[in-house]
Amino acid sequence: MPDPMRWGVLGTANIAAKAFLPALREAGGVATVVGSRSENRGQTWAAENGVTRAGTYESVVAADDVDAVYVALPNDQHSVWAAAALAAGKAVLCEKPIALNAAQAEHLVAAVGPDDLLWESFVFAFHPQTTLLERLVAEGRIGDLTEIVSEFHFDITGATGNIRLSRELGGGALYDVGCYPLRLARHLFGSEPVHAATALTPSPGGVELDMAAVVDFPQSRRLIMSAGMRRPMSTFTRIVGTTGELRVTNPFHPTARDTVELWVGREHVETWPAASGSAFRHAIDHINAVILGQATAQHTAVQDAVQQARSLDLVRAAATTGEAR
Ligand SMILES: NC(=O)c1ccc[n+]([C@@H]2O[C@H](COP(=O)([O-])OP(=O)(O)OC[C@H]3O[C@@H](n4cnc5c(N)ncnc54)[C@H](OP(=O)(O)O)[C@@H]3O)[C@@H](O)[C@H]2O)c1
Repeated sequence: MPDPMRWGVLGTANIAAKAFLPALREAGGVATVVGSRSENRGQTWAAENGVTRAGTYESVVAADDVDAVYVALPNDQHSVWAAAALAAGKAVLCEKPIALNAAQAEHLVAAVGPDDLLWESFVFAFHPQTTLLERLVAEGRIGDLTEIVSEFHFDITGATGNIRLSRELGGGALYDVGCYPLRLARHLFGSEPVHAATALTPSPGGVELDMAAVVDFPQSRRLIMSAGMRRPMSTFTRIVGTTGELRVTNPFHPTARDTVELWVGREHVETWPAASGSAFRHAIDHINAVILGQATAQHTAVQDAVQQARSLDLVRAAATTGEAR
């Protein structure tokens, strides 16, 4: 296997330019090709973002000088292109949600061979801050974990043409950011949700601009989540136990400004600053090491994506039926 690791990118995506490529460079990898629906856009984007060349999506998937593919397309195209890249023998990091429903996720995962490598891009799972949260919960520092109160909001008010506002492309607050609190709760509870009740604000185009849900897990554990696209960025999360809680400013993409605070009763006991390195950087390090045979794959799509998609289905179904508690 050559060194440095060679990645291809599908889509001239904002997230690829702003987060994935900087992390890839830090990790010592290179982006050899970006795929675009437009030759011009692809070439301009490649030049602006230090990518060697541009081509079609098909050419990225088929390229001999690509070891791994980052799928940064609109949500409705994730599972199709993840499958195509896997079939061409590439390792794949696919943006979330990897599938629009459980049936799509099952179909994709069923096609993953024993040597195939596929991850859904919940990169926070690889960040040391998540390991810290797991450890603090396991050590009983908040007593028994009972509830997670988590939000992910940001603001695209006034945006036109944003993929998040298109129902056809798999837009809406639940797919875009509501998936994060759900993934975090499944991760920390170590179980799957059994019931959900929701409230939402629809857009004229038929996606939810914001939504809230109460999601029940086994053992009387509960996620109270809120997600949306029309107020300032916030990812504040409380991980609550019988004796205390962890207050986490950003469990999903921690930066140097973010912290984890331990509160016991009404007392602030300790603060941990987020460890250095973006969540993308930690994920890419892991994937590169797995490809090189230096690490065992963790948090793969085979291990997680179907259950994550079923959880999204559960919340979506509650939203559709308007089921009230
Ligand atoms: N993990 C994270 O932290 C994170 C953060 C932000 C976003 N995301 C995910 O990353 C994905 C991309 O998000 P983004 O904000 O980067 O989106 P974006 O800037 O709009 O990029 C999406 C790209 O998809 C391609 N595309 C293909 N069909 C399209 C269509 N019908 N309409 C518009 N674009 C189309 C476009 O590239 P070409 O036209 O060049 O082919 C476009 O540049 C989404 O799935 C999102 O959920 C993840």
